[in-house]
Amino acid sequence: MSILWGRVCTDRDVMGGTMSTISYHEKRNTWLLEMPTSSYAIALTGELRVPRHVHWGCPIGHETAAAIAASELRQNVEHIAWAEEDRLECVGWGGRRYDEPTVKVDFADGTRGIEWHLAHDEVTRDGDSMTLMLALQDRAYPLRVELFYRIFDDTDVLERWARLIVPDHGAAVVVRRAFSANWWLPERGSWRLSFLHGGWGNETQLERRAFGSDKHVLESRRGTTSHQFQPFFALDADGTATEDHGEVWSGQLAWSGAWKIIGEQTAGGHVHVVGGWNDFDSPIVLAPGDELALPVFTGLYCQGGFGGMSRAWHDYELNHVLARPGRTQPSPSFPARCHNRAASESLPRLRPVLYNSWEATAFAVDEQGQRKLAELAAQMGVELFVVDDGWFVGRRDDRAGLGDWHVDAEKFPRGLTPLIEHVNQLNMGFGLWIEPEMVNPNSDLYRAHPDWVFHFANRARTEKRNQLVLNLARDDVAEWVFQTVDGLLSSHPIDFVKWDMNRHFSEPGWPEQSGANPERAWTAYVENLYDILDRLHDAHPTVDFESCSGGGGRVDLGILSRTRQVWTSDNTDAFDRIAIQKGFSYAHAPLAMMAWVTDSPNPLTRRELPLAYRFHVAMAGSLGIGGNLSEWTAAEREEARQLVGRYKQIRPIVQHGRLFRLLDLARDDLAAVQYVARDDSAIVVFAWSGARHYRTRPGWVQLQAIDPTASYRDRETGMVHAGATLQALGLPLPASLSFASMCVHLERLG
Ligand code: DGJ
Repeated sequence: MSILWGRVCTDRDVMGGTMSTISYHEKRNTWLLEMPTSSYAIALTGELRVPRHVHWGCPIGHETAAAIAASELRQNVEHIAWAEEDRLECVGWGGRRYDEPTVKVDFADGTRGIEWHLAHDEVTRDGDSMTLMLALQDRAYPLRVELFYRIFDDTDVLERWARLIVPDHGAAVVVRRAFSANWWLPERGSWRLSFLHGGWGNETQLERRAFGSDKHVLESRRGTTSHQFQPFFALDADGTATEDHGEVWSGQLAWSGAWKIIGEQTAGGHVHVVGGWNDFDSPIVLAPGDELALPVFTGLYCQGGFGGMSRAWHDYELNHVLARPGRTQPSPSFPARCHNRAASESLPRLRPVLYNSWEATAFAVDEQGQRKLAELAAQMGVELFVVDDGWFVGRRDDRAGLGDWHVDAEKFPRGLTPLIEHVNQLNMGFGLWIEPEMVNPNSDLYRAHPDWVFHFANRARTEKRNQLVLNLARDDVAEWVFQTVDGLLSSHPIDFVKWDMNRHFSEPGWPEQSGANPERAWTAYVENLYDILDRLHDAHPTVDFESCSGGGGRVDLGILSRTRQVWTSDNTDAFDRIAIQKGFSYAHAPLAMMAWVTDSPNPLTRRELPLAYRFHVAMAGSLGIGGNLSEWTAAEREEARQLVGRYKQIRPIVQHGRLFRLLDLARDDLAAVQYVARDDSAIVVFAWSGARHYRTRPGWVQLQAIDPTASYRDRETGMVHAGATLQALGLPLPASLSFASMCVHLERLG
């Protein structure tokens, strides 16, 4: 017999169905998680019933799960629960374990090492999701870990997280490592790792390498997600997956602080990925009665190649992260309630076209200048006008002002309200930039509270961009940040906040907590940041937030669950953006990806590119304009107006549609992407070239997800294409050799 969501079932495999299911088979001692097109299986083995990993991949039933479990046990001659090579669902360091543990602790009497047994298991349903909880108890010490597995009816993304608990009657435990989850991969000949690497101005560059016997570490020790790596991995067997075909196992961590993901092959050949909070410099002391809720580490198995993987991540982000209906709070990385979607919205609201003058004016913002830019932006069809850095007192450059969040009376003698009213009269929403986690030493805030920043006694306070990091782990500092932003939002009709964070941690000390586990600041900082954002959402539910961190330094599922969009990169050069946007699209949805059209030559790279090219690249995400409109010619402004109008026509297809990466600049000399409307009624294709060789191929781009029996009409030219032709041959690509672009919008005629 097996238990299927509270029901007793017959002794047969429980497969598929319209709803995802979690079931337990009593005779076979297997838990089976069945998602729409994949399964995850766990066996409870031995007297201790320690959960062992059985399967993550194609759909299977309990019988197959039991057969896999049995074959693994036969191979393991000495089978005790914490022996080498056991594929444990939670690897507690102890016994003969030489792989990367999930949890490592010191007990008060000096014992280090964990020996688990299963204490309890239960399944709950919450709206469109089901959660399995497996509670493990140490055999001798009062330490418990609860492992959570949440599946949804509409996605193969599996959310995993854990909670460590020291009961009231226990003794303090020092947690040396507390990862959220570990993922065991099935046995295959070899593996290839794909990941997203980069730096400031060069975020989300896709890299691939053979996953051999060496260890792979992706991490941030910077206090934020960082530009250096995305908390994302993808593995495909034998390096055979393509954009459209093949099995891909991938994962993302929902955490906006220091994190670590380690991939390894054990001596016995098992491939294992573990991850969670970075354990560097981070012991956490749990006193009796304390609990440690760890962030969500999501996993996704997909049979549709890297393209299928990305579309699954996009759907998950749209349906469960950016716009999530109410659900219980799994961990600090996801808030309890949906901040981003009204009950009536089935998908996150389409993002408005915004204007931001940062690249045009830098700190030189004032009422007159911003009014003029707002008028020009409104004429082009911009819907949201954002005032960036420089509006507050003392802020002439980056050497002063951060922390003193009062409107600069010289730049805005009448305050911000007249500008906001003017912007609103122009039919645009108003947005404001702020960087509330930071302080310049040259500020009244720092002079009043020099102890509020991260610092170590007897050590320099290392500045970056002339600023220091406020220690948000301190509740008084976190409360000040909340009150400051809440005050601004309460006293001005602000629709949008660009929340910036322009440096990483250094000297993350908390001297007041010396001897009382000051290292917990690494995680407490992020938990308090999340709490501030959650409280601000509650207090100002109509205000949208954008996560920015010197470009794309804080992009992850945790921050995306509290913001509507992210600033992708400070590099707005359209040609460079093609690679950045491609990498971004591996893990994140186009709706969240802010892309601005800026001036030519580009202020960062000095590259000159046609206006239409710059628009066509930015139109592949959520469109913004960031150029100095006062210096654009009337003809350029008119062209921009038409392109903004065009974007508004295709916006639902780009922001809510399904993305197909058709051509890759690195391989094809030309990049092309396609978006398909949710109801298949329309298609948008963008193509962009770099510097090309004469007679470069390809001359056509074959389209995906086409109905060969239908016809498609080009909305601009009126030309009708047969679906069969688009599928077999495709659309003609721009003929010009260098830096050409196209945007084609096709309507399905039937
Ligand atoms: C970094 C951001 O990425 C930019 O867009 C801009 O807001 C500056 N900070 C302002 O200081």
